[in-house]
This record gives sequence, C-alpha cells and structure tokens, in this order.
Amino acid sequence: MARLTDKVVVITGAGNGMGKAMALRFGQEGAKVLASDRDEKGIKATAEEITVAGGTAVADVTDVSDEAAIKALIHRAVTEFGRLDILVNNAGIVDNFKTVVTATDESWDKVLKINLYAPFWACREAVPIMEEQETGGAILNISSVGGMFGGRGGAAYVTSKHAIIGLTKNIAATYGVKGKVRANVLAPGSVVTNIGATITDPDPVGQKALQASGGFSSPQGSGEDMANAALYLVSDEAKFVNGAVLVADGGWTAL
Ligand SMILES: NC(=O)c1ccc[n+]([C@@H]2O[C@H](COP(=O)([O-])OP(=O)(O)OC[C@H]3O[C@@H](n4cnc5c(N)ncnc54)[C@H](O)[C@@H]3O)[C@@H](O)[C@H]2O)c1
Repeated sequence: MARLTDKVVVITGAGNGMGKAMALRFGQEGAKVLASDRDEKGIKATAEEITVAGGTAVADVTDVSDEAAIKALIHRAVTEFGRLDILVNNAGIVDNFKTVVTATDESWDKVLKINLYAPFWACREAVPIMEEQETGGAILNISSVGGMFGGRGGAAYVTSKHAIIGLTKNIAATYGVKGKVRANVLAPGSVVTNIGATITDPDPVGQKALQASGGFSSPQGSGEDMANAALYLVSDEAKFVNGAVLVADGGWTAL
C-alpha cells in the first residue's frame, strides 16, 4: 500500500539533488506534490517525471529568499490541492567554508536567508493551516551533520544548520506535543548531489576542520537514501516521532 496516499506535500529545492529524489519518491507513494525550486527547468522536469510515472505534481518557481514568495507557495498548496499535510524545507546553499573571519555580512545574510529564514517563514505560514486540519501535519527540515558538529562547513552554514534544529525542536514542543503538527529534522552526511559543484574558491582555513573530521573520505550517500529516510519521517508510520534528528550519514559521525 502506498504510504502517502493523497497527502499534499510542499517541498522546496526539488529541482535537483536530494529534493528531487524526495519529490519523486513522495509522488510514487501517492502524494500530491507541489514541487518548488528557483530553477525553472529543473522543477518542471521533476514535476513531469512524477506525472509521467502516474503521480500528481505541480511545478512551482519560487526563490525561498523572498518572504512574500514563500508565503504564496504555502498558500498555493491549499489553492491547488485544498490542504497541506507535509512541508519539507529542503532548499539550501553552502558557504565556501568561509570562517568567522572571512565571512562577509553579505555572504552571511545570503546563507542565513535561504537556510534559516526561509524555513522559518514557511513554517510560520504552514503551522496554522495544518493545525486547522483534523489530521494535522508534518514538517521536515533538512539540516546536516554540519548542524551537529562545528567542522562540517563554514561559519554561516554551520550556524544555519544548527539553528534549524533548534527551530524544529521548538515547533515540535509547541505544536506537536499537545498539538497536531509534528516537526523533525533529517541531518544528511555526504550525499552525491550538485551542491559540491556550487562551491567556488573554498577557504582553506575553513576546510581544515572538515579534513580533520575525515570529510574528504566520508561515506557517500545518494539522493534516494535521503528520500527513504525522509519518507519515513513524513509518513504516518512516524506519528509518534516528533522533535527528532535523524542522522543519515553512513556512520561518518559514528567514527
Ligand atoms: N549534498 C550533501 O552532501 C548535503 C549534506 C547535508 C545537508 N545537505 C542539505 O540538503 C539540502 C539539499 O541539498 P542538495 O545537496 O540536494 O543540493 P543541490 O544543490 O543539489 O540542490 C539544492 C536545490 O535547492 C535549490 N535552491 C537553492 N537556493 C534556492 C533558493 N533561494 N530558492 C529556491 N530554491 C533554491 C537549487 O536550485 C537546487 O535545486 C540543502 O539544505 C543542503 O544544505 C546536503
């Protein structure tokens, strides 16, 4: 039996990488997917793959660093599909390993806007909609092992990924323990996606800690590995899982 039959899902950053893998998997499991990305070509391809496979999907072009656009995206789920069951805040960027010394206000703001403010804005819109529904809703925020340890990214990235865990736990405690909205975190390790190609001119000082943590030879997961972990967390099988951080890193941080 499909695990997300008729669940309405909004997922950001679904035009590529693990967001795309999650969107495809959710579509296979019977979800109605509002697949969003700022990459128009990528997101249209994701939605088409879902529909060609017999699923239901709508492509949405949103830059998550735009608060008004995020608000519109969340409400679009209700306009298109009548409800919102699952929100996955996946869109994220890296920071070229800039340290506290080499990060600029501009680079800091850019990373925090996309990796932290955008999920905050999306959750702020989504929680009241989910609370109104008899069956509530589930939020999944994508952090990173960089959200649990200091040396898996630059200063802004590590800060944003730690902070999203705090935000998620606060939502879980406030709206999930006695309420209807579960919120959890997926913390991937190294996953083969396009994100590595977006790193330009990495700061060698910032990379030293990654090297020390074995980051250059860490186990490599796939988008599908992340999709399988995400599927569990957003499905009703995880109805008693709230405020959890699921690390999916092939054991890198167990070393
Ligand atoms: N790949 C890894 O090793 C890894 C490890 C830990 C955490 N993560 C996290 O996983 C998430 C997905 O990363 P990925 O590896 O699939 O990356 P990716 O670069 O392959 O895909 C990210 C997607 O997000 C989109 N995006 C970026 N900025 C956006 C914006 N402002 N508005 C809308 N869309 C935007 C991109 O267009 C792209 O489609 C990110 O939050 C990332 O921090 C990745």
